[in-house]
Amino acid sequence: MCGIVGYTGFKDCASILLKGLKCLEYRGYDSWGFSFLKDENLVTIKKAGKISEAEEIVNDFPRKSFTGIAHTRWATHGFPTDINAHPHFDCRMKIAVVHNGIIENYLELKKELQKEGHIFRSETDTEVIPHLIEKYYQEDILSAIRKAMLRLVGAFGLAIISTDEPNILYGARRGSPLIVGVGDKEMFLSSDINALVTHTRKVIYLDEDEVVKLTPTSFEISTLKEEKMQKEIHTISLDAVSLGKGGLPHFMLKEIFEQPESLHNAFRGRLDYGRAISKLGGLELTQSEMLSVRGIKLLGCGTSWHAALIGKYLFEELARIPAEVDYSSEFRYRDPILLPDTLVIAISQSGETADTLAAMKEAKRKGAKVLGICNVVGSSIARECGRGVYLHAGPEIGVASTKAFTSQLVVLTLLALLFARMKGVMARREGLIALNAIEALPCLAKRVLKKAEKVEKIADLFYRYPNFLYVGRGYQFPIALEGALKLKEISYVHAEGIPAAELKHGPIALIDENMPTVVLATESNILDKVKSNVAEIKARKGKIISIVTEASREMDDLSDFKCSVPPTPHFLAPILSVIPLQLLAYYIATCLGCDVDKPRNLAKSVTVE
Ligand code: G6P
Repeated sequence: MCGIVGYTGFKDCASILLKGLKCLEYRGYDSWGFSFLKDENLVTIKKAGKISEAEEIVNDFPRKSFTGIAHTRWATHGFPTDINAHPHFDCRMKIAVVHNGIIENYLELKKELQKEGHIFRSETDTEVIPHLIEKYYQEDILSAIRKAMLRLVGAFGLAIISTDEPNILYGARRGSPLIVGVGDKEMFLSSDINALVTHTRKVIYLDEDEVVKLTPTSFEISTLKEEKMQKEIHTISLDAVSLGKGGLPHFMLKEIFEQPESLHNAFRGRLDYGRAISKLGGLELTQSEMLSVRGIKLLGCGTSWHAALIGKYLFEELARIPAEVDYSSEFRYRDPILLPDTLVIAISQSGETADTLAAMKEAKRKGAKVLGICNVVGSSIARECGRGVYLHAGPEIGVASTKAFTSQLVVLTLLALLFARMKGVMARREGLIALNAIEALPCLAKRVLKKAEKVEKIADLFYRYPNFLYVGRGYQFPIALEGALKLKEISYVHAEGIPAAELKHGPIALIDENMPTVVLATESNILDKVKSNVAEIKARKGKIISIVTEASREMDDLSDFKCSVPPTPHFLAPILSVIPLQLLAYYIATCLGCDVDKPRNLAKSVTVE
């Protein structure tokens, strides 16, 4: 998804912006661009393609430019071409704008501006912004920006420079995140904290409809009504060093192997053995509010939606609270009914997914209490919810989510456990068993990761198959969906996740010797049922790769290949059984030569609808 970096200070702006753009690469992009202020002129370079190309070009750039903006674009309106890449300009090439988000009323604005004589160069929605600023520009840029913002419908994070104000950088936001980095005689602007951490730990989060004016030594934040805002400067603890690949070839592999640690971080300080319960500081719900919860609605997209599906099983089984799951994108537009005393839980690794943000706002508008489960601290969803639980998984850079998913499952288990114990539907003894089992997870995850080579060998044998099925039942059905999604995302191999018992209602027609099936067959009270479903595949010559519980012989006769995970209570089993599936997808993708960390067409954080 698009990324923004801006700089004003006394250092070489070009190399700072280039470094910033590289930190944003992981978000997914198809083109990039820079504009600098140099001797009262704008110097611009923008191109479709990879940022690696930018290095050579930017190195040839005139030095001694101290203010500039840069952007990675992920096309929404207009093809990924040089001309559509950001920045975009006004008619006189005096104002340069980079933009994240979508301007929904751009066609009508464009017609109006064209009628007034404005000349457009690109097919983007963004280009209306510099022209609107030009239209309203009389005395100062700041008021022109405010007036332009009042005309825009949609979402935007903006960074703006003008040749008339050589050392000033402007930012504005509505719906898309924008963060100010406060340095020593330098100021930064970015849509993503990752681009700031190598320069400063001091940040200010802009709120809705705020505009910021930055000089190297000052920041001035105001609203559309020209009210000056006093904002808190936060010190972030994110360690830029942890953004490296740790000697591994891809971020995704690094993040898969980080799971013992990230699982630990998800429950660290949250297990209360004395009361046999979990403790979650950020819930901001009183005991009586918690006891009055009669239903739970879980929202998410992609992998976070799969975590939500498992959340449903957890809340219903452990806490005996009816739970429903919705895709955020479906929930927000269908005028959903939220019964009184329904708690809404919005799950999002990035905390910036536009559909989830909008869905949680809709739930809030309808009067529901909303909790966020996010990884990125200070992200829009986390701040908008005002209450929730952080994953503390550390930065997840690989586009395909891995460690954040298993941390989401830990946090959902902790929440279900909290409700279960508070409501008195789980005995103290069961509570203690659950806490012990959660605490054992990092060790068990290490044991699974020790078998990575075995998964790599299976990938070597299977990477040429064009289609895969993944099947599971109960808690393992969402893991079948997640395993299939991982494979699709990074290897572009078609895969489907199916509840094992549904095979016979259609998908079994696909089975022959060319259709491998990955079966989730860990110990549970429905393993026998899963075995019968697998026998039906076997009878049709389908090849079986099964994920089983260590020491279990149950699947021996039915499997062509087996991969085992350590025993754990069935409601925690997904956290371990997804790991071999993450590895399988990773190794198949590398066998196929795919760009694992930057899969085609995908973005880490989808900040448009
Ligand atoms: C994008 C990513 C997925 C992710 C989904 C939801 O589509 O490519 O990996 O699962 O967004 O992201 P979130 O940050 O809300 O969990």
